[in-house]
Amino acid sequence: MGKKLFIETLGCAMNVRDSEHIVAELSTKEEYAVTEDFREADLILINTCSVREKPVQKLFSEIGHFNKKKKEGAKIGVCGCTASHLGDEIIRRAPYVDFVLGARNVSKITKVLHEKGAVEVDIDFDESTYVFSDFRNSTYKALVNISIGCDKQCTFCIVPATRGEEISIPPELIVQEVRRAAGSGAREIMLLGQNVNNYGKSFSDGRRGVDFSDLLNMVSEVEGIERIRFTSPHPLHMDDKFLEVFASNPKICKSMHMPLQSGSTRILREMKRGYTKEWFLDRASRLREMVPDVHISTDIIVAFPGETEEDFAETMEVLNKVRFEQVFSFKYSPRPLTKAAEMEPVDPEVASRRLKTLQERQTEILDEIAAEQTGKVCEVYFEELRSGGTVAGRSDNNFMIQVEGSEALLGLTLPVKITNPKRMVLYGEVLHQAS
Ligand code: SAH
Ligand code: F3S
Repeated sequence: MGKKLFIETLGCAMNVRDSEHIVAELSTKEEYAVTEDFREADLILINTCSVREKPVQKLFSEIGHFNKKKKEGAKIGVCGCTASHLGDEIIRRAPYVDFVLGARNVSKITKVLHEKGAVEVDIDFDESTYVFSDFRNSTYKALVNISIGCDKQCTFCIVPATRGEEISIPPELIVQEVRRAAGSGAREIMLLGQNVNNYGKSFSDGRRGVDFSDLLNMVSEVEGIERIRFTSPHPLHMDDKFLEVFASNPKICKSMHMPLQSGSTRILREMKRGYTKEWFLDRASRLREMVPDVHISTDIIVAFPGETEEDFAETMEVLNKVRFEQVFSFKYSPRPLTKAAEMEPVDPEVASRRLKTLQERQTEILDEIAAEQTGKVCEVYFEELRSGGTVAGRSDNNFMIQVEGSEALLGLTLPVKITNPKRMVLYGEVLHQAS
């Protein structure tokens, strides 16, 4: 008899992939099928994020709600980074939780499922060679992990404490995974890691000799794969070899995430990011020279402890110089197990004001960038049916593009002329259908 699984996923693309792995394991080894309604589920999972404080606060009210409304006898499991971070404290605070499964212990899902009160949160656990069963949310694009953990110690970031040290997944397993995805119809893959361009520095069998640029080339040879994306690279490791492979391999989408965090070299040092404002600007302008239509996205933290008006002005200067096509901006949130949490915080009102200033300026930049797209023609891989007889997809350089059309467009890559660009979506027309 089949059972039902409800899974809620918070946070980053790695969590999305971890949830896919969980669904795959539970459907092939335990006969669970996914449901969108937690009230009919036999198992309720929440895959948590702990990068900022807010979602962690919400966790307990959310699982409390699940517990009140769930089907009788249904189990509740807490997975992901907050599971790693809080461990058995979760069961102490919410005794109705059946198990806790850390972000680095996903392969143990079928084990903890049968042990009431199980807590598997070992951040030294090595699952870099575990081959998960197969399941993907999308037929069109596939997420593929290339490493687990993170070796950096950015002073604001809790991830190294929840996902542990970095281990690269062997390239032959990655290629096998990409082949499997291509075989089931995916034309686009997204390579995932906390620090993808550090790939190859730490295999568990001690081998050397493959770096991220090599891996990109290997993956681009897999038949059926037309587009390769990756997240997230670290600006520090953006050496010339990497930029050249990025620019010259036609299968690599011309979209780069360059997490700036701060434009002040002094703050970058406090954050232990390893690069300077000048290095970042140099890499960004080199990238724009090499790939004129490149899409650059970034993450920025405002009001890191000790950030002065001058430091913030430097962040604004980088924002204005690089003119990012997309910015994810956050107010600094102190996290346990991090160095920065011991430092003197910036006044919350000042922090809110800085975030607002940054976001308002970015909105102006985005409107200008959108307007510049009018009349351009780009190749769009259609992957999503939207309401009102429209279909959406991404251009090679990562703009969200929407056209009139039906499901017949799904899975096709077609040229689109941009006719009506808006800040978040560029509206356009398909130039001609594939034969
Ligand atoms: N290496 C990962 C980073 C994960 S955290 C990746 O590249 O995806 C994602 C983003 O959250 C970071 O780039 C940073 O901008 C933000 N972030 C991390 N810790 C934070 C904190 N304590 N407060 C505010 N934002 C934070
Ligand atoms: Fe976090 Fe820095 Fe790693 S932001 S995930 S410690 S690269």
